[in-house]
Formats: sequence, structure tokens, C-alpha cells
Amino acid sequence: LSNGLAQTPQMGWNSWNFFACNINETLIKETADALISTGLADLGYNYVNIDDCWQDITRDIKAIPESKTFPSGINTLADYVHEKNLKLGIYSSAGVFTCQVRAGSLFHENDDAAAWASWGVDYLKYDNCFNLGIKPIDRYPPMRDALNSTGRKIFYSLCEWGEDDPALWAGNVGNSWRTTDDINDTWASMTSIADLNDKWAAYAGPGGWNDPDMLEVGNGGMTYLEYRSHFSIWALMKAPLLIGCDVRNMTAETFEILSNKEVIAVNQDPLGIQGRKVKVTGTDGCLQVWAGPLSGNRYAVVLWNRCSEGGTIKVSWDSLGLNSSISVSVRDLWKHKDVVSDAVGSFGVHVDAHSCEMFVLTPKLSHFREEKPYINRIDS
Ligand code: DGJ
Repeated sequence: LSNGLAQTPQMGWNSWNFFACNINETLIKETADALISTGLADLGYNYVNIDDCWQDITRDIKAIPESKTFPSGINTLADYVHEKNLKLGIYSSAGVFTCQVRAGSLFHENDDAAAWASWGVDYLKYDNCFNLGIKPIDRYPPMRDALNSTGRKIFYSLCEWGEDDPALWAGNVGNSWRTTDDINDTWASMTSIADLNDKWAAYAGPGGWNDPDMLEVGNGGMTYLEYRSHFSIWALMKAPLLIGCDVRNMTAETFEILSNKEVIAVNQDPLGIQGRKVKVTGTDGCLQVWAGPLSGNRYAVVLWNRCSEGGTIKVSWDSLGLNSSISVSVRDLWKHKDVVSDAVGSFGVHVDAHSCEMFVLTPKLSHFREEKPYINRIDS
């Protein structure tokens, strides 16, 4: 959507994955405080997004009601968050109720958008429950127009769960669109969502991103190495980096993953091309190379071992569209070290089971590639 937002994927925090409906204004304030005190805000995590359950159940014609758990009002919370140089996100559903049966916004788009804009809201996640069987393509554009007519810049995140292949129609509707059903905090869910999201890589770019759902890093259902894979692949896929854990109580390992500047830089690279699965080997294709171009003629590469045993994974230049005689320097984004200065043709390392290694490859010659990157964006 060309509303000037989402030039790179959105970063921030969302309440749903860890807190579900157990939210209130104190939690949101403490989360904003924690984003600042931990340094995560400085790394780019600047949206503080309230998910389902901030609203009451019944609405009057004009107003979407705030729940008693937000006694000071969302506008006061927006002021609090803005004072810290953060942005506030709100949630509703393109239906008569939200998924947790709170008031929804279908047929009330203009009133609700106007209320949020007057409160100082910066972001809307727009869910898909109780939609009366009306197609997403008919329900999501009215809210785009309503947000637009407020005159306030509001990031528009579509949460249609991949219904009707949004990559094909949402490019001029929202700043991101969900490509799948909800993630849960397991390796099986995370890996299958990565594969489903991969299919739509060509449709992502500045202004509109594929959304494989929010991060589960730090929620306890995966190992450290599995979470490292989750974060690396989401970053490579130019997915929104929306933290889904309790940032007031993170372990050192969780923080190490979420705060990896070099991995974040891949996600926020200005070229804005979604990396994709480029090669698989091993049993059932469980040894995988995921890669994509970066600005400055560089490449980001994730060597991802989804097998139950360790193994060697190798990226060959030809799977990147790179001439195999070119010499490349390799930087390891998890060790934070330059590991090889002159790899030619390919580069491989041992990768532990359910883990990944992530690299940036910088070819020595920069004139080998034409200006057009190897994946052309398809605009929907
Ligand atoms: C479904 C969405 O996909 C989730 O991310 C979350 O917003 C829940 N609804 C809230 O009810």
C-alpha cells in the first residue's frame, strides 16, 4: 500500500502470543518501558501493539467501547507510548465481533478509524472473525479508505489468515498481509508456516510484506537453536519482526536472539527483497539453503538444518544466480565474525540438528550482477 509506511518490515511487540486476553493498561506501559530499558527500541522495535481484548463486547452505533482493563483510555496510553518515542498499535476485526467476541468494526469503518486517529493510534491489525461470509477483498479495502481519510498515518496490517491468497490482491490494500493461519509455539508450526509463506516471496516489497505471523521466540516451546532458526528465517523472509514474548522477563538467550543487530539489518535491508528457499538436500529435503539478495550486491544466506541429526549444508553460487568463479567473503551473523575471505564457487559448514547458521556473502567484484535483482517483484 503506498501510504508512505512499511518501507521495511514493521518491528515491535504484540500482546497476543504470550498474553492472549490477559492484558491491561499497566502491562502495555510496562512493556513500553521494557522496550526502552532493554535497548530493543533502539534496535528498531518501535510498535507497541495491543491485540484482541482491549475492547468491550457491545458497541453503540458510533463508538467502539474500551474495556475496563484500560480505565485511562487508549488515548492516554498513546500519549504515554509517544513520550517514549514509540508508536501504539490497536486491533479490531473486519467482522461484527473480534475472535474473542469483542466489538468488531465491519460496517463501522469510518467511525472506528476516526476514533483511533483521534486517540493517536499508529497501527491497526485487522482480524477476520465473524465476517458474515463476506469475502476479504470486499471487507478489507473499506478500512484502508477509512484510515486514509483520517489524514493520520496508520500502518494497516491485514490479518485475513491467508484467505483468498492475499498476496494476489492485498498489495494496494495493506502494508502487510497474513499468508497463513496462526503460528503456535512449536517447531512443527514454525517450519510449516515458513514453507507456506515462501510461496509468496515475489509479492513482497517496500510498502507491503508477507506476514507469516508474529514471533514465538522466548515463549518456551522451542529450544534456543530452534528459536534462532525461527528468527533468522523470519528476518530473511522480510517478515514483520513483532516480538511475542514477555519482554519484561526475557532470558539472556531470548534477548541475544531478538537483539542480533546483524540479523535485524538483513530484515531491514533497503532493497526489500524476500529471501526464499533456494536448494534442498538430505532426507525429505531437510538440509536447506534459504537466501536472497541484499543491497550493495550482497546476499543473505541461511543454512537451515531441519533434520533430526547434524549435517553439512553448502550454498553454491549458482543457486544465488552468481557466477561460480567469483570470490566471495563470508560473514557469520551469529558468531559476529568474518569467517572466510575468498570462497569460490560454494561455501558450506556443519549445522546442528534443528539449527541454522546465517551469513552475509559479499562478492569481491560488484559489477557481475545487473541492476535488476534475481527475483522480480510481482505487484498485485
Ligand atoms: C486470530 C489472529 O490470527 C491472532 O493473531 C490473534 O489476533 C487472535 N485472532 C486474537 O483473537
